[in-house]
Amino acid sequence: MVEEFPAGMVWLVGAGPGDPDLLSRKAERLLGRADIIFHDALVGRSILAMAPQAEMVNVGKRAGRHSKDQRTIDRLIVEAALAGRHVLRLKGGDPSIFGRSTEEIAACAEHGVPVRICPGITAASAAAAQGLASLTLRGMARQLTFLTAHARRGEAIEHDWEALGRAKGTLAIYMGRAAAADIARNLIAAGRDPATPVLIAVNVSLPNERLLRGRLDALAFLVRAIGQDDPTLLLIGEAVHCGLAASSGEGIVKEAAGRAAISG
Ligand SMILES: C[S@@+](CC[C@H](N)C(=O)[O-])C[C@H]1O[C@@H](n2cnc3c(N)ncnc32)[C@H](O)[C@@H]1O
Repeated sequence: MVEEFPAGMVWLVGAGPGDPDLLSRKAERLLGRADIIFHDALVGRSILAMAPQAEMVNVGKRAGRHSKDQRTIDRLIVEAALAGRHVLRLKGGDPSIFGRSTEEIAACAEHGVPVRICPGITAASAAAAQGLASLTLRGMARQLTFLTAHARRGEAIEHDWEALGRAKGTLAIYMGRAAAADIARNLIAAGRDPATPVLIAVNVSLPNERLLRGRLDALAFLVRAIGQDDPTLLLIGEAVHCGLAASSGEGIVKEAAGRAAISG
C-alpha cells in the first residue's frame, strides 16, 4: 500500500469553518502525522492543538493585511518538502474554494513535490447548517453560485451582475462584508427582488458565531454590526429562508426591512 504521508510530501488540508468537530477524520489523522504546518489566520487554536508535535507557521492573511505573500508561501512549502519534512498546509474551509490552492499545487509540481488535497467543510455549507437553511430549493433555487466580493482597495468588484440579478438561485458570497452595499445595489438594479431573503453568518461554527437574517434591501444595514476582522459569509436567495420564519431572527428581519436603505 502507498504510504499516505511520506517525508517530502505536501498535504493541502481543509480545516472547515472553525469548530474542530467539523474536521474530517482524515484531516485529524494527517494533523497527527505532520511535522510542519503552514496555517491560515482563521484556523483556530483548538485545531492547531491537535498537532502538538508539529512546528507551526502562521501564513495567514486578514482583511488585506498579509503576513506572507502567496509566492513566499509557495516557496516555504516547497522548501520544507524538499528538506524531507511532512508538510501540511492547513486552510480554512475547503482548500478548493477561494483557497489559492492552485498556486501551491503548481509550485509543488514545478519542483517534483508530491501533493494531495483533503477536502473540508466550506463556510457556505456551515452557514446553511447553522441557519437551518438549504442552499437549494426544489423548483425555486436550482443553482448555487460561490462568489468572492473581495476587491483591491478602490477597485470595483467585477461580476456579471446582470446575470446574477436575473438568476433565481442562491448566492454564497465570501469576503463580502465590506462590499455588501454594492452587492445589494447591483443585484437589485439587475432585477433581483429587494425582498430576497439573506442570511449573514459571522464566525460560523465558533463560540462567537452570529447569524443575522433579513432581506436584500437591508443588507448594508445588517452588516454594519459586524467587525472588520470577523469572517463573514453572505447567503442570498429564496432557499435560505427555509427554517428561518419560525426562528427569533424574524424580529431582525422586520427591523432591518423597516429602517434600511441601501446607502452609497
Ligand atoms: C479566503 S476565503 C476562504 C474560504 C474557505 N476556503 C472556505 O471554503 O470556507 C475566507 C472567507 O471565507 C469565509 N469564511 C471562512 N470561515 C468562516 C466562518 N467561520 N464564518 C463565516 N465566514 C467564514 C469568509 O467570507 C472569509 O472572509
